[in-house]
Amino acid sequence: MDKFRITGGNPLRGRVSISGAKNSALPCMAAALLTSETVTLHNIPYVRDIITQRRLLEDIGATVLTPELRTHKIMADHVELFEAPYELVKTMRASVLALGPLLARFGRARVSLPGGCAIGTRPIDLHLAAFQHLGAEVGLESGDVVARAPSGGRLRGSEVHFDKVTVTGTENLMMAAALAEGKTVIHNAAREPEIADLGELLNKMGARVRGCGTPTITIDGVESLGGAEHTIIPDRIETGTFMVAAAITKGELEIKGCRPEHSAIVIAKLREVGVEIEEVNQSTLHVRCCAQGLRAQDVVTEPHPRFPTDMQAQYMALMTQSEGVARITENIFENRFMHASEMQRMGAALAIEGNTAIVEGPTQLTGARVQASDLRASASLVLAGLAAQGETIIDRVYHIDRGYERIERKLRAIGADIERQKASVTGSLRGAAPQAEEVATGIN
Ligand code: EPZ
Repeated sequence: MDKFRITGGNPLRGRVSISGAKNSALPCMAAALLTSETVTLHNIPYVRDIITQRRLLEDIGATVLTPELRTHKIMADHVELFEAPYELVKTMRASVLALGPLLARFGRARVSLPGGCAIGTRPIDLHLAAFQHLGAEVGLESGDVVARAPSGGRLRGSEVHFDKVTVTGTENLMMAAALAEGKTVIHNAAREPEIADLGELLNKMGARVRGCGTPTITIDGVESLGGAEHTIIPDRIETGTFMVAAAITKGELEIKGCRPEHSAIVIAKLREVGVEIEEVNQSTLHVRCCAQGLRAQDVVTEPHPRFPTDMQAQYMALMTQSEGVARITENIFENRFMHASEMQRMGAALAIEGNTAIVEGPTQLTGARVQASDLRASASLVLAGLAAQGETIIDRVYHIDRGYERIERKLRAIGADIERQKASVTGSLRGAAPQAEEVATGIN
C-alpha cells in the first residue's frame, strides 16, 4: 500500500485548483440509471470512489465512456443486472445509491447491505423505510437488501419524514420519487449543496424536483426521464481542507475553482479562529494566517448548513496549532475520532470525552509514522504532518485517494515537501491511487 512521506515546516504559498465534488458526482452518476439516454457529467474528480462507482454502473450493464479525463458519458440503455454486489458495496457504501434508481426504473433492486466502516455502523434503515413509504416491498436475503416495486411495477409518491437527516437517504429517495406515480414530499431532507446539484441534474433530465436546500423537497413523479449534460459542483470539503492547509502552515493560498457560498460556515469558523479569508469572487478564495496567530474555538458538527462532519478531523489538526482549549463535538458519526490517537503520537495535547475532543494548543508537533483510518482522518494527518517538525510517514493513503485528486501533487505545487512512496512491485498495489490513464481508459 502506498505511503506519504512528509517533511513539515514549509509555509504553503501559491495557487491551488479545487476538483469536482466526489459526494455530488456519486449520486449524479447513479442518477444516469434512471434513463436509457446518455447522461454526460463534467468536472468529475478522478478519485478511487469514482472508479468504484463506474465499475458498479458497468457491472449493472451501463456503458461509461470518458472522452476526457473528468468527463463521464453514461448510457444505461442495456441494463441486465439490478444489483450492487458485496465486493463493491463493501469498498464504497455509496453504492447503495443504485437502489433508488434501479427500483424506480426497473421495479427491482438488490444491493448488498453495506457493512459499517471506520467512522460508524452506517445503517441504511432510513433509506429502506423511505422506499417502503413509496410502496416498495423490502426484505433481506443473505445479507442483501432486496426491493421490489408494487405489483404494478411503479412506485407511488408519498409523504416521507426522515427521523434523522441523511444525505444519501435524501438522494436515494429523490431518485426513486422522480419516476414514482404522483407526488412525494420529503420532510427533514438533507440540505447539503450536493443535494441541490443532484436536483438540478434530475430536473435537466425532465424530473420535477423543488425545494432542494430546504428541509422540505417536493417531487412530482413523471413517466420517464431523458438524457442531460451537467457540470458537478466543486468540492467544498477539499476547499476547506486547503483553507486549513494555508492556516496550519502559516502560508498564503489562492484557492481557485471553488464555490465560497458552499463553504460559508467553514469560512466563518476559520475567521473566528483568526484565519484571514477574502472571497475574491464567486470561484476564488484568498487565505492566509493572521499575524496575531490562531485562537482556539469550539465547534459542533451538524447537518448542513451547520459545520460539516467531513471537516472535523481537519479542524482538529488546526486546533493543535491554536492558542487555548477547543472543544470539538462530533454529532453525526459515533466513531469519528480515529485521527486523534495518531495526532497524539505526533505530540498533540488532546483528550476524548464521549463525542467531544478537547484540544489544547499550540503544541509543537513532531513527525511520526502514523496510519490513515478513513478519508478525512487521512487528510487531517497530512495537515498535521505539514505543520510538524521533522518527517511524517502516513500509511494506507488509499483512504485519501478515495476523495482527493492526487493531493500530494497539488501540495507539492504550493511548496509542501511531500512524496508518494509506491507500494513495492511485489507488494499490493491495491491501495494505489488511480493513475490518470487508469481512470481515463477504465483499465484498473
Ligand atoms: C454522506 O454520507 C457523505 N457521503 C459522508 O461523506 C458525510 O460524512 C455524511 O453524508 C454526513 O454529511 C456521501 O455523500 C457519499 P448520512 P451518508 O446518511 O449519506 C445515520 C466523506 O468523507 N443514518 O447523512 O452515509 C448515520 O449513521 C463521507 O466524504 C441512519 O441512522 O451519511 C449517521 O449517523 C464520509 N440510518 C447520520 O445518520 C440511515 O438510513 C448521517 O448519515 C442513514 C443514516
